[in-house]
Amino acid sequence: MKKYTNIISSPNMKLAAVRDLKKNPEYEYNSVVIPEDFKNYGVNKKYFIRTYGCQGNLRDSEVIAGILRELGYTQTDSVDNADIIILNTCCVRENAEKKVFGEIGTLKSLKQKNPGLLIGVCGCMVQQEHIVDTLLSKYQQVDLIFGTHNIHQLPSLIKDAVLANERVCSVLSNQGDIQEDLPSCRESTYKAWVNIMYGCNKFCTYCIVPYTRGKERSRKSVDILNEIKQLKEMGYKEVTLLGQNVNAYGKDINDLSFAQLMEQVALIGIDRIRFTTSHPWDFSDELIDVIAKYPNIMKHIQLPVQSGDDEILRLMGRRYDSKQYLELVNKIREKIPNVSLTTDIIVGFPNETEEAFNNTLKLCEEVKYDSAFTFIYSPRVGTPAAKMKDNVSMETKKLRFNKLTATIAKYELLKYKTYENKIVKVLVDGPSKKNDEILSGYTEDNKLVNFKGDISKVGSIVNVKITKAKTYTLEGEEVE
Ligand code: 5AD
Ligand code: SF4
Repeated sequence: MKKYTNIISSPNMKLAAVRDLKKNPEYEYNSVVIPEDFKNYGVNKKYFIRTYGCQGNLRDSEVIAGILRELGYTQTDSVDNADIIILNTCCVRENAEKKVFGEIGTLKSLKQKNPGLLIGVCGCMVQQEHIVDTLLSKYQQVDLIFGTHNIHQLPSLIKDAVLANERVCSVLSNQGDIQEDLPSCRESTYKAWVNIMYGCNKFCTYCIVPYTRGKERSRKSVDILNEIKQLKEMGYKEVTLLGQNVNAYGKDINDLSFAQLMEQVALIGIDRIRFTTSHPWDFSDELIDVIAKYPNIMKHIQLPVQSGDDEILRLMGRRYDSKQYLELVNKIREKIPNVSLTTDIIVGFPNETEEAFNNTLKLCEEVKYDSAFTFIYSPRVGTPAAKMKDNVSMETKKLRFNKLTATIAKYELLKYKTYENKIVKVLVDGPSKKNDEILSGYTEDNKLVNFKGDISKVGSIVNVKITKAKTYTLEGEEVE
């Protein structure tokens, strides 16, 4: 075990909450520097990355993989023969954190067998001081801790850990800048994540993300469009534009609005364009029109509601009430009649009464979502909601959670039933998880389809006739 800890920087949640709205982000190009005496350090060595949480983390892991490849590392699917293991973490709920601590615990024996193994922990969890304190004091097996703003420093951090035999911690809590042209190794050759902005300024009272990901800051539209043009040239079929709240795109830098950016992306002509996530607050009429107009913008909108009760929405700091949300839903449905709407909902937020919860159920009955991600409220250290009394018992939270998921499932199945006997377009991902002989992929409106088809079509868009609807998936067979 290493004796010394080199703390280059450590997180500070108070600092992370500060927003200087007048300051534009700095753009740094090609900021990954591989120290001369460290080039090829990873040759004949293997990396393993485990990613928890959202698409933002998946994209960051592609960048981490890209940097490790520049050092000469190759990928392995097993921790047992890895020379470096990176856990890219999420802290949006307590469960996610527990899993990571569990995994670090199990890695201890590997480290004892192989003292040369490097273990790194990065991502949102380590943006919190109490987590870094715990990792440093109780988890000696962790060699590297680096934050969401520090990924580009990875080569020099590994160098310090190896050559100086130190544990290294580098976590900035500033508002964040933008690193362009980072090396990256994309998971897929036909579907790509494209960050359009980072951070969040909304500060919903339950959410840790504004502290872990920093200020809302947009990439320049020219950099985004160039990246997508390149992806198209490389044969990519689908891009998903990523941001914590993509509707705020461009506001910080006086660039295109999100609607204008979407239009430019559509004109590049890539087959499928998706985006996630939209806060209902900034969802403009202009954006609805652009989504309606271009056939290559997929008609699926993830529109987190979080609660259907006005008092809870106020306590959550969501900046809309249920009436405004429903008006937005109706407006979207008028202009995009076949739109698929999905959402995020939290149950058991402080002060959620039975009546408040029933208002959430009522809203779901009215909207009839295609599907939803449902969560039990989990207090996050440092957020305003964590200071409120967590006064709904776990038993009640679980009962409400089950009721809510049953309601969502009821409408989901009804919606899925409407696909039976129809022909849909599916971008083929590969053999399904459960059965090698069945392929799986997603429809234009993001429904998972398992179907009989030709394996050589992986990465292309095929027609599938739906034969059966289940609650979370469709079944079918490929047709001409
Ligand atoms: N507890 C439970 N769910 C949460 N989410 C965010 N913070 C919390 C929390 N503290 C959910 C929200 C968000 C999704 C990504 O995670 O629904 O939209
Ligand atoms: Fe969190 Fe709200 Fe920002 Fe979404 S919009 S990341 S829920 S603070």
